[in-house]
Amino acid sequence: MNNNGRLTRATLAKKIKSGEAKVAVYGLGHVGSPLSAVWLRAGAHVIGVDKSPLVLENARKGRTHIPEPGVNEAFKLGLKEKRFSVYEDPVRASRDSRFKLICVPVLAFGGSSADLAAVKDVASAIGNGLKPGDTVSLNPSVPPGTSEDVVVPILENASGLKVENDFYMLYNPERIYEGRAIEDIEQRYPAVVAGAGPNSASMGTIFYSLVSKKGVLTVSSMRTAETEKLLEGVYRDVNIALANEMAKFCERIGVDFWEARDAANSQPFCHIHRPGAGVGGACIPVYPQFILYAADMLKVDCNITRLSRNVNDSMPAYVVEQAAKMLDGKDNLAGATVTLLGLAFRGGVSDTRLSPTYKVIEELKKIKVKHIRVHDPLVTNDRDLPSDVLLTSDLADAVKGADLVILIADHPEYRNLDSTKLGDAAVYDGRGILDPSKFGLRFGSIGRGQSTRTALSRG
Ligand SMILES: NC(=O)c1ccc[n+]([C@@H]2O[C@H](COP(=O)([O-])OP(=O)(O)OC[C@H]3O[C@@H](n4cnc5c(N)ncnc54)[C@H](O)[C@@H]3O)[C@@H](O)[C@H]2O)c1
Repeated sequence: MNNNGRLTRATLAKKIKSGEAKVAVYGLGHVGSPLSAVWLRAGAHVIGVDKSPLVLENARKGRTHIPEPGVNEAFKLGLKEKRFSVYEDPVRASRDSRFKLICVPVLAFGGSSADLAAVKDVASAIGNGLKPGDTVSLNPSVPPGTSEDVVVPILENASGLKVENDFYMLYNPERIYEGRAIEDIEQRYPAVVAGAGPNSASMGTIFYSLVSKKGVLTVSSMRTAETEKLLEGVYRDVNIALANEMAKFCERIGVDFWEARDAANSQPFCHIHRPGAGVGGACIPVYPQFILYAADMLKVDCNITRLSRNVNDSMPAYVVEQAAKMLDGKDNLAGATVTLLGLAFRGGVSDTRLSPTYKVIEELKKIKVKHIRVHDPLVTNDRDLPSDVLLTSDLADAVKGADLVILIADHPEYRNLDSTKLGDAAVYDGRGILDPSKFGLRFGSIGRGQSTRTALSRG
């Protein structure tokens, strides 16, 4: 099977727009929803597949639970033009489509190996409906070797077909920042694509060029593309760990880290990220674990990656310790009412996966704090919060009578807060976004601290 010289970009675009080559997207979550929307916007006939009845029900009404700009509009247009179908049956979706994009989650198992259960499930269903000439693309971030060593054998066994000879296999890491996913896929970065061999790579390059205005960066192997995505995440995790370390150092020497950082980053080789109360989400804290797991098996030192993970994991405890200082220590904190600002793992999103707020709550509970409230403008209910922790989207309710407010997520709504909105509470800014001049003496901030200057010159 060789598409070189036969399939042109124009021919494929025609097949996709006519519905002759339908695109099935498996997993309509933070990645699959915007990716479906992107293909709908490109004129494709899209089949959305998910195992959650609620996700399916919403999609059939042209809705997604992911607050991602442009997705609902694309779903609605797709339904109106009869180009968007929603299937529960993954095998039928495979039979009815030419392209199958796997967008189900891959998390880390107890801090070690990757949980590939959903990918294996979907790959097996796709394999059962696979036809000669079909294309399968794996999109989640995965340990290097997953496409070749896990997904391809499942597809081949289930279908009796052979990759490169009978079907195409691609790896295409999703490069998105929640909240602007469609823009990221369509126009912000090139799509990174790799194939199981030259035939697949050539098909993948043509296919993704139909939606990526920045073009396609085709790399030599799926393992390379898988590693590329992990490098993006590890770079950020390590950089944030460096920022956290330097922020703590600056606090001790009485220097405003933020001012020093701005000045340092004016030099083009310096890109220090932002320190904060912890690194959450389904991506950055997870990808280094894939690398560390493989490194342990191969007995390769990845000390910086490991240390950075530990530094970032220690930040919720550090934030609680610093905040407690404003109430003269942890003993006073035990009887206090504490309000945490932000349950989302970062500002501007409603995604709470691996949010540092959960760890801050654990730390507060370790020192027996009984009255904990959480405010979030975008998260209105959450099953993972302990039952005695109150969640509200009403800021006045959240801070009423509070002794301590700790800002954890950098939601834009928090940026202009001042002491009039936070009552008499002591305030600790775990993201460094508040203006200290708008608060009184009982204010602390990561990278600014409250500690006195250490006389370095005296040793
Ligand atoms: N969230 C991000 O910003 C982001 C960015 C880049 C890459 N990624 C990668 O994408 C992967 C997917 O992440 P997400 O954020 O979209 O996850 P998500 O949890 O938001 O969505 C996954 C969807 O898949 C569905 N699903 C789970 N198992 C299924 C199965 N067996 N069959 C059918 N549907 C199933 C779920 O019901 C859910 O709707 C992540 O593991 C990550 O590696 C995520």
